[in-house]
Amino acid sequence: MPSVFIKTYGCQMNERDSEAVAAQLVAKGYTLAPSEAAADVILLNTCGVRDFAERKAIGKMQNIAADVRKNRPDVVLGFLGCMAQSRGQELIDRLPDVDLVLGTQKFHHAADYLDEILAGRRDKIVDVAAEPGSEATIREHLLYGNVARNGDGHRPPLQVTAFVSIMQGCNQYCTFCIVPYTRGEERSRGIADIVAECRQLVSQGVKEITLLGQIVTSYGKRGGSSREAKVDGREPENFLPSTLDSRPSTTKSPFVQLLDAVHEIEGLERIRFTAPHPKGYGDDLIEAYARLPKLVESAHLPVQSGSDRVLKLMHRGYTRERFLGIVKKLRGARSDIGITTDIIVGFPGETEDDFEQTLSLAREVQFDNAYIFKYSPRRDTPAAGMPGQVPLKIREERNHRLLETINEIGRRKYDLFIGRRTQILVEGPSKKNPARMTGRTRCNKIVVFDHAGREHRGQLLDVKITRAGSFTLYGDPAIVNL
Ligand code: 5AD
Repeated sequence: MPSVFIKTYGCQMNERDSEAVAAQLVAKGYTLAPSEAAADVILLNTCGVRDFAERKAIGKMQNIAADVRKNRPDVVLGFLGCMAQSRGQELIDRLPDVDLVLGTQKFHHAADYLDEILAGRRDKIVDVAAEPGSEATIREHLLYGNVARNGDGHRPPLQVTAFVSIMQGCNQYCTFCIVPYTRGEERSRGIADIVAECRQLVSQGVKEITLLGQIVTSYGKRGGSSREAKVDGREPENFLPSTLDSRPSTTKSPFVQLLDAVHEIEGLERIRFTAPHPKGYGDDLIEAYARLPKLVESAHLPVQSGSDRVLKLMHRGYTRERFLGIVKKLRGARSDIGITTDIIVGFPGETEDDFEQTLSLAREVQFDNAYIFKYSPRRDTPAAGMPGQVPLKIREERNHRLLETINEIGRRKYDLFIGRRTQILVEGPSKKNPARMTGRTRCNKIVVFDHAGREHRGQLLDVKITRAGSFTLYGDPAIVNL
């Protein structure tokens, strides 16, 4: 059978999509190649969020095509995902060696299309159409890692963490963002369907599940089958009609109902989710943090800017004050919650004063970490045509200044862990040094430590932190509580 290599760009949603495609292909008998050099099929699962991500994937494909066409002309080349969705046929016009362009609602057709191309029945395939129900098709998992079974039938050990896709698309239409165009309208899977997938994963040894979507706090508000969802044959309580944003704090949003349902799964230890939208942090979700012990004390809250003027231009739907209020409430519910964020610098019209408000917000919140992005104009988005585009040099300078601030805050926050005991879920050998093991705290910090073997994978251990590096903690081997 042919072998396939999938390279993934971008977010965790893309990683999850690649995993589902890989699992689908393995189920059909394909093997997973350890590198592109050994593969019969090479797929690049792309990102469109910034121009840089697109250029990287196109450059990579140009290199692969040049090499492969010279030496191995039968290799099948494909683009999947967000850039495939937004550019479609244009990608083949530009790179005629590409055989397959598969959009974000079509991942589940990958195996059939590849079969047809490999069998010579079809030459090129471009499929970026919308497909109703596609939100529920990202469900196969590859728990045995990204390597094929060895000759002796031995498989690498099980994964202990897994991603589960709960919805697709976004209706927020932030003015900088291409996602509503690449991922489409919000569509949610049903609660029962998601819970069944989580149960299955837990029965195979998974201890931590991250619920994924482009805007998970809008789960179940629009479209999809979730409103009719049943949990274990029961109608869920309080399943809300779509527009009740002003609900009283006693009712639960569909997302919190989903958290409740997943929380009931026996054997599951930790629940995470990403990416939420700050405006989705109603009191019901804050209460969930206080109420549900498996919901870890960690929140990724993309703020994007600290300036109300810029937030409005971005169409974010909250103010600086509202954001700070959410952070305060979250810390009220879980004092040790780890809070990370995304920030864009150099959005059109951003003045030095606006940027300084972002710096001051970062200091005020004391983020554990932040992903900083230089604004990148995306075609068809309103911000790309806004006046006051900020020169690259200034975007770079602001990026640098903010990074220094974030690193300084992060260093202090990580240092606070030194001497503390903290619970970690052991995920496996450290990538940098396979003699060591690695895991994450509940507040999502990576911890590297010795003195635990592969047999500890999947266990919750208390580790005493002895040292803090750059966004990594180190545990003292002598004090690992085995
Ligand atoms: N330019 C720069 N960063 C962007 N992001 C989204 N769109 C853009 C853009 N056009 C960032 C946001 C988002 C993260 C995933 O990517 O910060 O939260």
